[in-house]
Amino acid sequence: MADSITVFAPATVANVACGFDALGFALHKPGDKIVARLISGNEVVISKITGEEGKLPLEADRNTAGVSVKALLQKLGIQQGIELEIHKQMPLGSGLGSSSASSGGAVFAANELLGRPLEKKELLPFAMEGERIACGAAHADNVAPSLLGGFTLVRNYHPLDVITLPFPEDLFCAVIHPHVQILTEDSRRVLRRRVRMEDAITQWSNLGGLISGLYEKDYDRIAASLTDVIFEPIRSLLIPGFDQIKAAAIQSGALGCSISGSGPSVFALCRGSETAEKAAKNMQDNLADFGLDSDIYVSAINPHGTVIIDEN
Ligand code: HSE
Repeated sequence: MADSITVFAPATVANVACGFDALGFALHKPGDKIVARLISGNEVVISKITGEEGKLPLEADRNTAGVSVKALLQKLGIQQGIELEIHKQMPLGSGLGSSSASSGGAVFAANELLGRPLEKKELLPFAMEGERIACGAAHADNVAPSLLGGFTLVRNYHPLDVITLPFPEDLFCAVIHPHVQILTEDSRRVLRRRVRMEDAITQWSNLGGLISGLYEKDYDRIAASLTDVIFEPIRSLLIPGFDQIKAAAIQSGALGCSISGSGPSVFALCRGSETAEKAAKNMQDNLADFGLDSDIYVSAINPHGTVIIDEN
């Protein structure tokens, strides 16, 4: 059994337009690197965090990764010291599942160090505890794809029921991360508590259509279904240039475009890497007109989720 393990936990796109708090998928990049080590004693210690300019707390009880690993140890009834190093390789507050990657990656690494007492899927509730302290809601639409990979649907929360969905091989994602920070907590607070019945019908019809399109590998149906009539109209007001970015992606041939998670990142699903590259570039050029810098990422759907990259 290893004493030290390093894992890669990928960024994710949650909601995927019509699947608020239910649907998500994993990217190949960006992502976090987490190192976990067995240490003497029974404390969870975060010895180092890099790549976030000192914005994240080192105290395990205030850190999403620390809280998640503590919840795992408590549930297993194991008294074991674990040291964590968190290397952030993606922006915080970007809508790309940064806190989920750290929580999921840390729990996955700790579980491996302990001899894998739980299956990957069984780790979700512990990673969700990290989400609870990150934004006040223990949602799983980021942690599920980050851990498990591919497209995941959280069909039910109580009890947790997560379904891994198929997807067409030529599906690529273009992501633009405008350099403004929106905290998930704030982006959830602005949402209306009541939904019009017509909008609810449109939304669940599109979610059904999208899932059917993924199963059938039907790009036209995927394109027709990538619409969010409930959350995007409100949240997009927080993202400078959103309408222009979206128009640029669609003009580039994207199947659809919406907000990634709680924003400010915006994603466009595309058929083929060339279209995704073009969409990313055009989104970035359009955002530049608003005087905002941005990062762009182009990635196929990551079927693996969190993986071990080193152990000794
Ligand atoms: N489903 C969540 C939201 C994802 O949109 O608030 C953000 O972490």
